Amino acid sequence: MSLPFPKLTAAEAASLINHGEVLGINAFTAAGAPKAIARAIAARAREEHAAGRPFKVGMITGASTGPSLDGELAKADAVSFRTPFQSDPDMRRAINDGKVQFFDMHLSVLQQAMRYGHLGKVNWAIVEACDVGPDGSITLTSSVGAAPTQCRVADKILIELSSAHPKALHGFHDIYEPADPPHRREIPIYRPSDRIGSPVIKVPPSKIAGIVESNIGDEINGFPPPGAEAQRIGENVANFLASEIRRGTLPASFLPIQSGVGDTANAVIGAMGEHPDIPPFEMYSEVLQDSVFNLMLKGKVKFGSSVALTASAEMRKQIYGNLDFFRPRIVLRPQEITNHPEVIRRLGVISINTAIEADIFGNINSTHVLGKDLMNGIGGSGDFTRNAFLSIFTCPSTAKNGKISTIVPLVSHMDHSEHSVAAVVTEQGVADLRGTSPNERARKIIENCAHPDFREPLLRYCAATKKGHTPQSLGKAFAFHQRFMETGDMHGAIE
Ligand code: COA
Repeated sequence: MSLPFPKLTAAEAASLINHGEVLGINAFTAAGAPKAIARAIAARAREEHAAGRPFKVGMITGASTGPSLDGELAKADAVSFRTPFQSDPDMRRAINDGKVQFFDMHLSVLQQAMRYGHLGKVNWAIVEACDVGPDGSITLTSSVGAAPTQCRVADKILIELSSAHPKALHGFHDIYEPADPPHRREIPIYRPSDRIGSPVIKVPPSKIAGIVESNIGDEINGFPPPGAEAQRIGENVANFLASEIRRGTLPASFLPIQSGVGDTANAVIGAMGEHPDIPPFEMYSEVLQDSVFNLMLKGKVKFGSSVALTASAEMRKQIYGNLDFFRPRIVLRPQEITNHPEVIRRLGVISINTAIEADIFGNINSTHVLGKDLMNGIGGSGDFTRNAFLSIFTCPSTAKNGKISTIVPLVSHMDHSEHSVAAVVTEQGVADLRGTSPNERARKIIENCAHPDFREPLLRYCAATKKGHTPQSLGKAFAFHQRFMETGDMHGAIE
C-alpha cells in the first residue's frame, strides 16, 4: 500500500533539521534506534562544520542508543545537550570533556517531564517503525522507550521504516500514556502480563514529515559466557533469594524480577534460571537480555514485561523466527510504565542492579568513577531500587585487576542511599542490610562483601570513629580514592 507521506532518503530527512533544534529520538539500549537517519544527521553536521557553519542539536532519547546514534553524533560534534542514560564510549568522552551538556534523569520521569514542558520545546520526533498506516498508526520495532510522548510533543515526526524488523511485531507493544495531574488515575497493571493500551502509536498524519526506508539491524553485541567472578555473584544472588523463599519472607510462587544491564546482570539471571529452588518466574523489567530469552525457551521465565528486546543478532534471529512462541510471553511498554513507582511497588518487584561502588553503609554509586567521570547514568536503577520489594545491588569486590576496592568507606558520588538498599552482593558473599544500624551494616558489608585485601583497612576506618550513629570519619572518608589518584592503586590506604 502506498502511504500518503513523503518518502525521503536519510540525507533528505537530515536536511530538514536545523541547528539548535531539539530531537526526541527513540531508542532504548541499542534496540529500536533509528540508525540511518542518525548517521545522516551526523554527516550533515560534518558538512555544516566544514562549511564553517554551526550545527548542534539537543537530544532526548529513551535511554542508551548505539554506535550509529550516540557514537556518530558525538564524533561529529553534533550534540549540544543530551538526556537521559547513555553508554557509548564516544558520547561518554564528549560529556566528560564538557562538549555535551548531559543531565541525568530517572527514566520513569522523562516522558512526563516532556509533557509538562520541563525540557522545553521538542522540534522533531524520530522513531524506528516496522509498519506505518495511512491513518498515522505507527508499529514500533524492538523498543518503545519514550516514543509515544516524543511523537505527542514534537512539532514534526520522521519515521525510519525498517525491514530489519518483521511487521509481525505488531501486537508486542502496549502503548499507554497516563493523564497528567490533576486528572491522573491509577495505572491498571496488576500482573506483569496485563495489557492496558494500544499496539500502535496514533499520531495526526499531518505531523509525519517523511518516511525513510532502511534495513539496519539493532547494534547489540552478544554476551561471552560469564567469567568466574560474575558466575559467583549470580550464584550468591540466586542462593540468597532461594533462602528467602525457604524462610517465608518471599512468597513460594516468587515475585517479578527486574534486572539491570551488562555482563553481571546477564550472569545473575542465568544463575537464577539454573537454581533448583527458584521456581519459574516473571520479569517486570526495563530490558530483557539474551539470558532471559534463553530461559523463556527453557520454560524458566514465564513472562517478560520490558521496554526493549535487547537481543544479540543471533538471539534476535531466533526470536523473529519464532514469534508465535514469544508473542504470548512478552509485552513492550513505554519506560514511564515499566519503571513506574506505583506499578513496581504494587507488583512487589525484586530489583537487581549493578553498582560501580558501594560504601560500608550501603550507599551506592552507579554513575561516576572517582566521583567525577560519568560512566553511563542512573538509568532505571533509581526507579526500581526506591520502590522494590527487595532492592539488591551487585558488583565484583574489586575493579581494574584488583587495584580498586568497590567497597569503600564513603561513595564518591551517591545515586542510591542506604535507606533504599536491602542487600549488597559481591563474589565474596551477601550482606543483608535489612533491619541493621549503620554500625552493623558496616561490619556485614566489610566481612561478607569486601575483598580480603581491603577488609583490614576498612575495619581500621571504622575504628577511627568511636562515637556517633554512623562511624564516619570525614578526614579519611575518601582515603581509598585519594590513594588511587596518587598511586593508581587503593592498596596502602588507611595503614
Ligand atoms: N572504579 C573505577 N572503575 C570501575 C569501578 C570502580 N569502582 N567499578 C567498575 N569500574 C569499571 C570497570 O573496570 C569497567 O571498565 P572497562 O570498561 O574499562 O573495563 C567499567 O567500569 C564497567 O564495569 P563492568 O564491571 O564491566 O560493569 P557492568 O558492565 O556490569 O556495568 C555499571 C556496571 C554500573 C556501569 C552499569 O550497570 C550501569 O551503568 N549501571 C547504572 C544504570 C543501571 O543500573 N541501570 C539498571 C536499570 S536497566
